[in-house]
Amino acid sequence: NPPNLQMGEGSILEQANCRAKGGAPGFKVAILGAAGGIGQPLALLMKMNPLVSVLHLYDVVNAPGVTADISHMDTGAVVRGFLGQPQLESALTGMDLVVIPAGVPRKPGMTRDDLFNINAGIVKTLCEGIAKCCPNAIVNLISNPVNSTVPIAAEVFKKAGTYDPKRLLGVTMLDVVRANTFVAEVLGLDPREVSVPVVGGHAGVTILPLLSQVKPPCSFTSEETEYLTKRIQDGGTEVVQAKAGAGSATLSMAYAAVKFADACLRGLRGDAGITECAFVASQVTELPFFATRVRLGRAGAEEVYQLGPLNEYERVGLESAKKELAASIQKGISFIRK
Ligand code: NAI
Repeated sequence: NPPNLQMGEGSILEQANCRAKGGAPGFKVAILGAAGGIGQPLALLMKMNPLVSVLHLYDVVNAPGVTADISHMDTGAVVRGFLGQPQLESALTGMDLVVIPAGVPRKPGMTRDDLFNINAGIVKTLCEGIAKCCPNAIVNLISNPVNSTVPIAAEVFKKAGTYDPKRLLGVTMLDVVRANTFVAEVLGLDPREVSVPVVGGHAGVTILPLLSQVKPPCSFTSEETEYLTKRIQDGGTEVVQAKAGAGSATLSMAYAAVKFADACLRGLRGDAGITECAFVASQVTELPFFATRVRLGRAGAEEVYQLGPLNEYERVGLESAKKELAASIQKGISFIRK
């Protein structure tokens, strides 16, 4: 048999990678679900991130192929592949950041909650591995329904005695990315100049863009507000329908995931003033989890910001968001406590 070039510490490929890299300092990042629709472009973009020194790619299928492919990129990070449950612990040991896009995506006609039965179990298993092998890692949870999987992860970590609310972040960055894009379109601006806070959660009406707090300051007619809010809330469904059974957003999600992971890594490095929206443990409302702007630092989400002033439209939206969120959070907690 030919030597296994792709996999594992000490492989020929990795030795070559290490030599090429020259030992530059950086962070160790694992992607769980790395062979999937999100996982593959996410792995590609993480391999290009100069803050990443080691990139672990874990999946239950196709991890060796994706690893071999990504490892040929002439960028700094050393890439190692891990296939299947027996290799989960090796994939996680020593990681600073774990990004989780593992699980099934939506098909037309499905809500994110329809994914609960499959993805809840996957997230539970992966988080048990994190609690055991890298309890201090920052976790970026992408698997849907995020409104329930984050509470599931929190319960798993509590059970294991490793829970630190600052280090568990549900990724809602795609809602922000979409909001910036759609708002920029309406305003006739470059999306890179636009910043829209999106709070609440990551499903339907729980996605609450705060159009009254857009930067640069601007105002919208009630028709524009209605159009933008609905389009941001239904952005995922727009992609699911266009893909017509082939899955949900993967490329824009990988972009958003890397944008968020990069912010977490810059926070870990100690950069000042890094703020992004994320779904985290929160005291901003009466709910135990809520997405708002957070300040990212060495400890993770070091500060959770208040909502700021809302207009009447947003106050009504907030009430609907909280109602649905409360049920989704409870569903996640019950899954572990049952
Ligand atoms: P996909 O089906 O293309 O890929 C999922 C990958 O997870 C597959 O490679 C699969 O083998 C792997 N996987 C399944 N069970 C696993 C396990 N136990 N351990 C490790 N890996 C496992 O799905 P896609 O499109 O990449 O979506 C992944 C998840 O991300 C879905 O739950 C989707 O709903 C969610 N998502 C979240 C978004 C967000 O904004 N937070 C946006 C878009 C999708």
